[in-house]
Amino acid sequence: MLRQGLSKAVARPWNRDVDEAHLALIRGGPGFLAECGAELRSLGAPAVSSPPLPEHAAGPWVEAGYRPAESLEVFSRDLSERIPEAERPTRVIRHPDWQAIEDLDRPAFEPRWRLDTEGLRDAFSATPVAAVIVTGEPEPVGFAIVGQGAIAGYLQRIAVVPDRQGEGFGRALVRASLQWAKRRGARHMLLNTLPGNSAAAKLYGDEGFERIDDELRLYRYA
Ligand SMILES: CC(C)(COP(=O)(O)OP(=O)(O)OC[C@H]1O[C@@H](n2cnc3c(N)ncnc32)[C@H](O)[C@@H]1OP(=O)(O)O)[C@@H](O)C(=O)NCCC(=O)NCCS
Repeated sequence: MLRQGLSKAVARPWNRDVDEAHLALIRGGPGFLAECGAELRSLGAPAVSSPPLPEHAAGPWVEAGYRPAESLEVFSRDLSERIPEAERPTRVIRHPDWQAIEDLDRPAFEPRWRLDTEGLRDAFSATPVAAVIVTGEPEPVGFAIVGQGAIAGYLQRIAVVPDRQGEGFGRALVRASLQWAKRRGARHMLLNTLPGNSAAAKLYGDEGFERIDDELRLYRYA
């Protein structure tokens, strides 16, 4: 936790493989963000990255000297439309074993985009209500983290281990996540993905998601 007066931010390692820091701003302006960046650099982080931010939230970061880095595409799915049944078994995990979830996440993503247990917990805590859904029996082969905000659901994370991809587990996780959010009253489901992730984009398109104009971007202090 970084604090200065009323300003507050939370920093964590990017992940086990990439030697950078992740910084989430809770309260504060550009001066504080610049100090956080400098402080984390002085502690040895070669770079400090923001969470994915919409353009309207980027101002203080840019003013603080953070530079635009990767952009992410945003997809939305109307939940009033019918959601087909998942064709693979899925179940909601009440008390996730975060290490076991990380073990599923790790092989599915290239090093930069892996989440370790702290990052997965962050994704889970990003909304007031959230669930981890797993698929595969007896041992899980994939998981989704889905959250619920005021009117939107958020598919925060989805992954299937590489040697079980292409067998319908990803589709089942998407459907189970849509159903979970719809049951809780969400009107639509949002998610973001890296441009060029054609497997994911194809799956989301098939399951009724449409790309929307919004874009999210990471900002990096280096
Ligand atoms: C995206 C992901 C979760 C899909 O899971 P999956 O179990 O492989 O998906 P499914 O078997 O249910 O396939 C669903 C559809 O995805 C698409 N798809 C899956 N693998 C694909 C590939 N290698 N290339 C192109 N499309 C592919 C196809 O449209 C497929 O439907 P089809 O089999 O009817 O053609 C999985 O590929 C994954 O974990 N990727 C790495 C992590 C990741 O990118 N997560 C999403 C971040 S936004």
